[in-house]
Amino acid sequence: MNILILYSSRDGQTKTIASYIAKELSATATCEIQDLADVAQIDLSKYQQVMIGASVRYGHFNPSLNKFVNKHIAQLNQMPSAFFAVNLTARKPEKRSPQTNAYVRKFLLSTPWQPTLCSVFAGALRYPRYRWIDRVMIQLIMRMTGGETDTSKEVEYTDWQQVSSFAQDFSALSYEK
Ligand SMILES: Cc1cc2nc3c(=O)[nH]c(=O)nc-3n(C[C@H](O)[C@H](O)[C@H](O)COP(=O)(O)O)c2cc1C
Repeated sequence: MNILILYSSRDGQTKTIASYIAKELSATATCEIQDLADVAQIDLSKYQQVMIGASVRYGHFNPSLNKFVNKHIAQLNQMPSAFFAVNLTARKPEKRSPQTNAYVRKFLLSTPWQPTLCSVFAGALRYPRYRWIDRVMIQLIMRMTGGETDTSKEVEYTDWQQVSSFAQDFSALSYEK
């Protein structure tokens, strides 16, 4: 069983989550992991399942997500596939499902892709690593939404148990055909 995991990550958290999932899946499958930005030419027929993870920045997923999906839509909708989104809105449990997370709801409504599985994970807040303008903007958003405003802090909100169950659900898709 060959699995492809693609990720779009700016500050590394989505990549870390994708690697964690790849590690879990590699117990029972061969798992390849790649940056969505580097997959100009890829033959999806080499894989039995595909997963794509992407983070949100200023309200949007990286355009490489839609670009890839649109290019490979026929194959994507023919095979077991999964999508996961990473953002800070999802640090609130009530905004951590595809139905309640506005970015994911909007994406699913606009894309022709119908992923078999979909999930939303809380990302990380790493003030010291941001450019000052991003630090100021994120602090403002955090102040407005009741989040962490101390810019000396790095906080990881990702629920690794949730990530693990998602990996298990994805793994189980191979038995459902
Ligand atoms: C500049 C910037 C803009 C962001 N914009 C949003 C946003 O609009 N909505 C949101 O929920 N999270 C937002 N986030 C939080 C990121 O989605 C979160 O930090 C995530 O872990 C980033 O994933 P990555 O490390 O894979 O890029 C933003 C973070 C940064 C640094």
